[in-house]
Amino acid sequence: MPEYRVKLKKEIKRRIAFGHPWIYENEIAEEPSCENGSLVKVFTYSGQFVGKGYYNRNSLIRVRLLTRKNVNIDRKFFKDKIQRAYSLRTRWLKEKGAFRLIYSEADGLPGLIVDKFADFFVVQISTLGMSKFKETIVNVLIELFNPKGIYEKSEGSFIAKEGIEPYSGWLYGNGPNLIPFKLHEITFLADLHGQKTGFFLDQRFNAENLSEFSTDRRVLDLFSYTGNFAFHLLKGGAREAILVDYSERALAVAEEIARINSFKEKIRTINANSFDFIRNVKIGEFELIVIDPPAMLKSATAKHNALRAYKELNLRAIRSLKDGGILATSSCTQLIRESEWLEKITEAFKDSKKIGKLLFSAGQPFDHPALTSMHESNYLKFRSYIVSSVSEF
Ligand SMILES: C[S@@+](CC[C@H](N)C(=O)[O-])C[C@H]1O[C@@H](n2cnc3c(N)ncnc32)[C@H](O)[C@@H]1O
Repeated sequence: MPEYRVKLKKEIKRRIAFGHPWIYENEIAEEPSCENGSLVKVFTYSGQFVGKGYYNRNSLIRVRLLTRKNVNIDRKFFKDKIQRAYSLRTRWLKEKGAFRLIYSEADGLPGLIVDKFADFFVVQISTLGMSKFKETIVNVLIELFNPKGIYEKSEGSFIAKEGIEPYSGWLYGNGPNLIPFKLHEITFLADLHGQKTGFFLDQRFNAENLSEFSTDRRVLDLFSYTGNFAFHLLKGGAREAILVDYSERALAVAEEIARINSFKEKIRTINANSFDFIRNVKIGEFELIVIDPPAMLKSATAKHNALRAYKELNLRAIRSLKDGGILATSSCTQLIRESEWLEKITEAFKDSKKIGKLLFSAGQPFDHPALTSMHESNYLKFRSYIVSSVSEF
């Protein structure tokens, strides 16, 4: 592939110099005359090399940097990056059956997500530039890991904006639509026809840590998807778990996971809107409530409404919990800062005349690394509290 040059404006943004991998349209002095998706070399105004990346003039993010080194972007480049990401994970992860192998910019491969479920990989490509390397990525994964199958699941509205077609299908080998994998002694199923890569690996440790507090509790898992939280909490000794989601498919998969793990008698799935459901929960009906809604806004304009929705959900849950009940609440909305979200949780406690005593706080696991140089890589917020009323404190 030929390489083109991008010249930055005189004042190179400190953000770029300090390791942020995006270059915006208004930071460029001279745009290259290449096709969208081409590789480009980026230089400062005075001609110093900044890095290499790929270019797309359909995006305000004109260049996403792949490296700060002047190296060839070839099979060896991808192999090195993937090997580096793999050893970061396997050095510390106790559970190696399922993990996120590549988390986009945080692993120096913008536009690429790779999740491993048992002997299978699920790949998500979200940029035109990265899509040009699809074959190389697949070949490297085969060479390094000899998987049974590699499935591509590249969907979502952002894909069209990049100028690529959504695609879902096997790129290599074959396998079931529901891939079984072990996590903390539970057999889960990654659903290739489900959401994202088939399973939300980012909450697995939060669910496992929460299970320490679940003994004998009646659990409500709101926005449950296929029951990551519910099954971890049942394994931890919860009496019963009610899963609420408006995806019928996710709940059907949850029923199957319950069957495999002999939890069938202990779960109930309810296909409903979690906002409506929580409004009708009776005081004391549940002793542990999990709230894990989907990302609530795609643009900063809707922020006010999203924050109001977080407050409303948490307020209802807190009001319904008796003293000693547990609230486990999350936000995966990247555009909402942790401090803004926490303010709403605090207001929800105040408005209910209750106090939340922190059990533990968390974010995303290290196989979804959040970079200090890129706030956009940091999205997941998690808190769990024991609830008590002010009057009883
Ligand atoms: C972030 S995922 C939850 C992941 C899950 N807690 C886990 O750990 O695997 C959000 C889920 O909320 C569901 N959902 C979105 N809006 C909903 C609503 N208003 N009521 C119920 N479920 C909803 C989606 O179908 C999706 O399964």
